[in-house]
Amino acid sequence: MSKGLIIAFEGIDGAGLTTHSKLLVERLRRDGYKVGYSKEPTWGPIGYLIRELILGEDVDQDIMALLYAADRLWHVRHYSCLGVSLSKALSEGYIVVIDRYKYSSIAYQSLGSDPSWIDILNSKAPEPNIIVYIDITPEVAFRRVKERRVTYYYETVNRLSKIREQFSKALSLAESKGVYVIKIQGLNEMGKERSIESIHEEIYSRIIRFIRQL
Ligand code: ADP
Ligand code: TYD
Repeated sequence: MSKGLIIAFEGIDGAGLTTHSKLLVERLRRDGYKVGYSKEPTWGPIGYLIRELILGEDVDQDIMALLYAADRLWHVRHYSCLGVSLSKALSEGYIVVIDRYKYSSIAYQSLGSDPSWIDILNSKAPEPNIIVYIDITPEVAFRRVKERRVTYYYETVNRLSKIREQFSKALSLAESKGVYVIKIQGLNEMGKERSIESIHEEIYSRIIRFIRQL
């Protein structure tokens, strides 16, 4: 593989994005691939500002769309968790696994903003090659995030439910642009949580099949 690859994990809060992006990074590294982990919002100045704003209730989605898009360009051009910009990591042939990327903006900020405008705002950030979308219900998501840390503006059952609906439109948009979208059921047919291990095995096998045919 001469050029790098972006694998973006997407889904509502609590879906398991951090858990599974990190497990995938470790697994691909054990296979010998050059792999980096990164995340959004970033730990750069705009990322900090974003986290502060979403602690409150006065959240304007047009302004948030601008801030998330700016944070994303910071990520692409200045700094990723790898210590170099995302662009540089890609040019060095890294597979970069990102815990949230531009389709989070399209789904979340569509709560109060226009998806096609958000898409344009993000057009300077490269498209991901692969999206791993983990689907869970807003009720399970809410239970998980409540136990975890302070909750953000988006983390109510009502808002997560609207964001989940927006994700299905956002994923269709991604597919129309040629992004390979892997949809993973985080719950079984009975609505019970699948084990982390079985979800990881499904993600890994689908990703490795894609990588090997490149
Ligand atoms: P996200 O990054 O999508 O917000 P995390 O990966 O941080 O989600 O997971 C949120 C919480 O849910 C964590 O406590 C994690 O251990 C737990 N969790 C993740 N996946 C599962 C699963 N399949 N079954 C049970 N708990 C899970
Ligand atoms: P999260 O992944 O929870 O980051 P951290 O745990 O490091 O603070 O992201 C914070 C919130 O931001 C989460 O509710 C999802 C939301 N978000 C958007 O609304 N738009 C975006 O473009 C991104 C990347 C995240």
